[in-house]
Amino acid sequence: MNARIFDDPEALSRAAARTIVQRAAGLPQAAIGLSGGSTPKRTYELLAGRLDRIAVTWVVVDERHVPEGHPRSNVSMMLATLFPGGLPEAHRFIRFRTELAPDDAARDFEDQWRAAGLERLDLVVLGCGDDGHTASLFPEVDVPDEGVARAVFVPKLEEWRMTLTMGVLRAAAFRMVLATGPSKAPIVRGVREGARYPVALATEGEGETWWFLDRAAAGD
Ligand code: 6PG
Repeated sequence: MNARIFDDPEALSRAAARTIVQRAAGLPQAAIGLSGGSTPKRTYELLAGRLDRIAVTWVVVDERHVPEGHPRSNVSMMLATLFPGGLPEAHRFIRFRTELAPDDAARDFEDQWRAAGLERLDLVVLGCGDDGHTASLFPEVDVPDEGVARAVFVPKLEEWRMTLTMGVLRAAAFRMVLATGPSKAPIVRGVREGARYPVALATEGEGETWWFLDRAAAGD
């Protein structure tokens, strides 16, 4: 595991934002996948405005099937943290349109992806659930690995979600997994020991994966 361990979430977030800027700065245009949840929020706040001069296509990695503006909406969190002043002129933002039914939202997302001419993500920010999920790929829920995005019902959350497929995550050129807090330590340890969690499978693909961990998640 290629891990960077930080004293606290703030130091981790600063390093993650710096890494994204450094990676994107070298590209004429960049397709960057953004996960939801709570861990990346501070990284997105620190990233705001730092890539305005690069042609970035931002891609939502997964979404809960809730209206935009709902407290659980990932895209609402991203708009508030990463684009407080609105989306920069040269940027595009591919999102799941949750006003559509889940399957339709996944198909519409794939249409946006293809219309943007994307083939793979240059960089993707991933989280890690306490159960080893990443994106909305959960250990106990089978999501067909065909196409770019799928809708999935997650029984334990009693919630529909839309997510990038495992293949898209594995094809990314550079993956950053951000994990903080003691609840992630068993998963990090499991991945190090070869456990087949979705977050492990997603990070074994082509390209590089860097894990950004605070001491608690690293089990220090
Ligand atoms: C989501 C995320 C999800 C997240 C993990 C970790 O929509 O919930 O994409 O995969 O990354 O659940 O969430 P935390 O960062 O809140 O621990």
